[in-house]
Amino acid sequence: MRFLALSGSLRSASTNTALLHAFANIAPEGITVEVFDGMGDLPLFSPDLEADTPDSVLRLADKVAGCDGILIACPEYAHGIPGAFKNALDWLVSRFEIPGKPVMLVHASTRSAYLRDHLREVLKTISCRLFPGPDFEAHLIKKDPQQVRDILAAPEMRAAMRSKLEEFERFVLSGD
Ligand SMILES: Cc1cc2nc3c(=O)[nH]c(=O)nc-3n(C[C@H](O)[C@H](O)[C@H](O)COP(=O)(O)O)c2cc1C
Repeated sequence: MRFLALSGSLRSASTNTALLHAFANIAPEGITVEVFDGMGDLPLFSPDLEADTPDSVLRLADKVAGCDGILIACPEYAHGIPGAFKNALDWLVSRFEIPGKPVMLVHASTRSAYLRDHLREVLKTISCRLFPGPDFEAHLIKKDPQQVRDILAAPEMRAAMRSKLEEFERFVLSGD
């Protein structure tokens, strides 16, 4: 089972990206998680550019096509989706790779209620198959990189992440 992980933050010390790498590191046998590293390479979306789709977008689209499910960890910006991440989703809207793809949200902040609702609405609109939850959350907001590493390395956190990946795998296989 191959999962693709997309971070909604381009920040080098992003807690969302760190969370996704932690998921990649604890994935149980039979599951791989690849954190996509090209989100910052995507040009600003315009339908005019779709006729000659940029390579950076094709790279993302290929990763989406090749995975069994997607994990998304995204911060809340001004009660919404960060522009860079919405831009990535806009590139996928008219393409064939994303409809029907299972998606699970995981959260590096416990207080991003607006973001969660917005993101679910967008993902439903582009016909993703949303994991019904409960969503995985870690409280990493305002923590420094060492604190983030310590929280994510805790045995109970690793066990919770592993079991969430297994739950998502069951959802993917169920076809619900
Ligand atoms: C431009 C900007 C706007 C933000 N707006 C909100 C907000 O509306 N609500 C909120 O809970 N946090 C908000 N935050 C805080 C981020 O969501 C929070 O710091 C998040 O953990 C950052 O994720 P990262 O570590 O992956 O970059 C904002 C941060 C920035 C930079």
